Order: sequence, then C-alpha cells, then structure tokens
Amino acid sequence: MKTSIAVLALAVAGAIVPGAALAQSAGRISGAEAGNAERGREIFMDKDVARCILCHRPPGEKVGGNIGATLRGIAGRMSEGEIRIRIMDITKVRADPLMPSFYKTDGLVRVAPEWRGKTLLTAQQVEDLVAYVQTLK
Ligand code: HEC
Repeated sequence: MKTSIAVLALAVAGAIVPGAALAQSAGRISGAEAGNAERGREIFMDKDVARCILCHRPPGEKVGGNIGATLRGIAGRMSEGEIRIRIMDITKVRADPLMPSFYKTDGLVRVAPEWRGKTLLTAQQVEDLVAYVQTLK
C-alpha cells in the first residue's frame, strides 16, 4: 500500500515538473523568411488550411468563431516569440488546450527537412500567421 502511494506521488510530481520548465517563447523557425501579414491573413481566413477563423474572430472581420479569443491587441500583451509558440504548440503554455498544435516539434528549434511535413502548417505559414496576428489592433 505504501509503495503504491509513493508511485502515485511520483507520477503526480512527474506531471508537474516538466510543465514548469517548458519554453514560453520561440524564435523564427529556421528556413523560413520573415512573415508576411497579408499572406498570414489569407491563411488565417482559409477554412481548409489552418482553420483559425473557425474558432477566432479577429477585430474588423465579419465572420469567425468564438471558441478562441478575438486576439484584439495581442501584440501589446505578448512578444512576437510568445505569439509564435502559441501558434506552433499551445501545449507548451496550456495544459489540455482546445486549439490544435500547428507546428509541434517537441521543443526542437532546428527541424530536419525530412520532418517538416509532419506539422499541420509549414514553417513559412506559421511565420506569416505570426506577422498577421501582430497587426490585430
Ligand atoms: C479549435 C479551435 C481553434 C482553432 C482552429 C485555432 N484556435 Fe487559437 N485558440 C483557441 C483557444 C480555445 C485558445 C485559448 C487556449 C486554449 O484553451 O486552447 C486559443 C489561443 C490562441 C492564441 C493565444 C491567445 C492568448 O491571448 O493567449 C493565439 C495567438 C491563437 N490562438 C492563434 C490561432 C491561430 C493563428 C490559429 C490558426 C493557425 C488558431 N489560433 C486556430 C482555439 C482555436
């Protein structure tokens, strides 16, 4: 009985400790150019590619879902890197999120070309989205 309590305590500690050490920010993804906000808006609005618009309704847009926030004025609250990590892999900052992880690489910064196809979005699409989200006033 004592053993199982100790094992349980370890399991709980194990679930908390790695979370505390997770990165909160990410630099530009290697291989991608500086983001283009206009392209980013197109990706954001596209219902087949990223589907951001199904959950978020940015300021000034007539359509959009309300599962996620409007993202109004987000650049005033977060750095570019903090916005990027949330688009890449929201699990780095939120346990059990509703938002999908669009560029999940498990903390790797430089991803070998053969693994890039494993993400929902390309590095360039993420950079374009970061540039667009930063324009939301
Ligand atoms: C299935 C719904 C859904 C989709 C699709 C989605 N999001 Fe989200 N988003 C959320 C929710 C909900 C949150 C709050 C964190 C959570 O609980 O998942 C969030 C959080 C965010 C945040 C952080 C906002 C803050 O103030 O903390 C950003 C930035 C963001 N989303 C951008 C995007 C972009 C860009 C896309 C498309 C690539 C996208 N989201 C697609 C639901 C979604």
